[in-house]
Amino acid sequence: MPADDDPVLDDPVGQSLGTRHAHLARRLGRAATYRAGVATFSAVSTEPDARDWADLAELLGPGAFADMFSCPAIPPADWDPVFTLEGRQMIWPGGTHPPEPDTKPGSTGLVELGPDSVPDMLDLVARTEPGPFWPRTRELGTYLGIRVDGTLVAMAGERLRPPGWTEISAVCTAPEARGRGHAARLVGALAARIAARGDRPFLHVAEKNTRAVALYERLGFKTRRQVTFRGFRTP
Ligand SMILES: CC(C)(COP(=O)(O)OP(=O)(O)OC[C@H]1O[C@@H](n2cnc3c(N)ncnc32)[C@H](O)[C@@H]1OP(=O)(O)O)[C@@H](O)C(=O)NCCC(=O)NCCS
Repeated sequence: MPADDDPVLDDPVGQSLGTRHAHLARRLGRAATYRAGVATFSAVSTEPDARDWADLAELLGPGAFADMFSCPAIPPADWDPVFTLEGRQMIWPGGTHPPEPDTKPGSTGLVELGPDSVPDMLDLVARTEPGPFWPRTRELGTYLGIRVDGTLVAMAGERLRPPGWTEISAVCTAPEARGRGHAARLVGALAARIAARGDRPFLHVAEKNTRAVALYERLGFKTRRQVTFRGFRTP
């Protein structure tokens, strides 16, 4: 099991693109980004030089959005800042068992969300804004959902996959279905699946999202480090 201070978690996008998401990557030199529609996250070397930034600019094209995720390196001055967002990276503590998903009789079943569910997933994301999600994001891992009378009311899934770790992401519940434990069950089920195949679960959350931070802490996640998410526009 990887340690809490595993350096791959300091570059989760680059580590995913270089390993288990290599089939979903576009690369130039030491710069990499996800294929269109999968994610907009990009990565450069952990200590990027001018060549790395030039390669990323060429890879993305002029005036393109470069979502650098939690990368602390600042691009050259001719890259325009688009956003910054304070957040935290949380990890599943080693040596503990993820919460068992609630399977009591009558509880709504969790279902795996396949390609046919993408329109419903995009609709739920538009209503709940859990963070970036695109038409091909589901290809990054397993996505689970809860349907009530056929309508998708909650979901969560796997996103970044640096070696030894799997990120839980797109955790969202429709406003009318909140406070019923849907998110807790989905995150618990995903964490259990991830741990069962030998990975450690981790996730990212915006600092201002106090409801989500409280939910993850209640489920046992611990804060590993504060992060700043940054996006830029290429020259
Ligand atoms: C954060 C979010 C996913 C929680 O979903 P949920 O299905 O309501 O979560 P749960 O029911 O498992 O847990 C919510 C907690 O709030 C409590 N709660 C009570 N009433 C509530 C209400 N009306 N609405 C929301 N939560 C309520 C729940 O009881 C629970 O706390 P507790 O376990 O201490 O009792 C949901 O609010 C959401 O979709 N937010 C917008 C998207 C988002 O921010 N996602 C997280 C990205 S990191």
